[in-house]
Amino acid sequence: MPVKSVTVRVPAKVNLQLSVGPRESDGYHNLVTVFQAISIFDEVTVSFTPAQSGVSISITGEQTHGVPADANNLAVKAVELIAKEYDLNIDAHIEIKKAIPVAGGMAGGSADAAAAIVAIDYLYSLGMTREEMTEVASQLGSDVPFMLSGGTAIGTGHGEQLTAALSRGTYHWVLALSTVGLSTPSVYAECDRLRSESEIAEPQTNELLMQALLAADPKAVGANLINDLQAAACSLRPALRLVLDVGQEYGALGALVSGSGPTVAFLVSDEEAGLDLAVALTASGVVGSVARAYGPVAGAKILS
Ligand code: C5P
Repeated sequence: MPVKSVTVRVPAKVNLQLSVGPRESDGYHNLVTVFQAISIFDEVTVSFTPAQSGVSISITGEQTHGVPADANNLAVKAVELIAKEYDLNIDAHIEIKKAIPVAGGMAGGSADAAAAIVAIDYLYSLGMTREEMTEVASQLGSDVPFMLSGGTAIGTGHGEQLTAALSRGTYHWVLALSTVGLSTPSVYAECDRLRSESEIAEPQTNELLMQALLAADPKAVGANLINDLQAAACSLRPALRLVLDVGQEYGALGALVSGSGPTVAFLVSDEEAGLDLAVALTASGVVGSVARAYGPVAGAKILS
């Protein structure tokens, strides 16, 4: 009997390093980034719908505002891309249970696309290799390949060319969430506007960060977090500066805007320090809501 439905769990990410080169002629920027997958998960269920033709989608969860529930959703695009490339007629319903902040710089949309690839491969017994999944993923967005693999990885090119990073230990995070997201293209455009050509270096891997990850040294990781998009995210959302300051004042080992923001990620020494910081941030009144997470965790995985 064919499988009727499958649920895939997929994590969020933070960028421990995001070094952005100059804008290229295609509008994209060459990057060197270090991704870490963290323990906030969306669940994506894909079911056969023999009575309905085409792909439909519904979104559930506490925060779903701003998630397209139509063909613009990256998970729908992922299913349609596979249908085209594998010459399949796919009649399916996608249900996304969202926990990853929307437009928060944590790759929520990319994560759902990665989960949809894994789900369709399973439902249709395509037997896709990791390389084939990555090839589809990279056509959907720069962060999608990483959401398949998870763990800790260095991304180059647009962020989609991955090599595993040698990382040891578990890292604890406190995340300051915003209710209103930031658009990734606007943040890159603001980054271009703020920087003069002469100050833009070719991005390089931060060796101090890599050594700190290898040594499982959260203090050194915290001291070497870097995000070239941070100034742009803060320029568009000045309140983020205060959030960064408050978290550091309350003892975070390091702080940075996650990806294109507006989520701010604070690295702490352990779970207890995370709880203390979360309470302090909430009490400070400058943060709407907080979440705690640890990383690295695995990428998109079948649950049932
Ligand atoms: O690849 P993805 O669709 O996730 O990228 C979203 C937007 O982020 C792009 O349209 C582009 O404006 C910006 N971007 C960029 N350089 C990258 C990755 C993304 O300028 N390397």
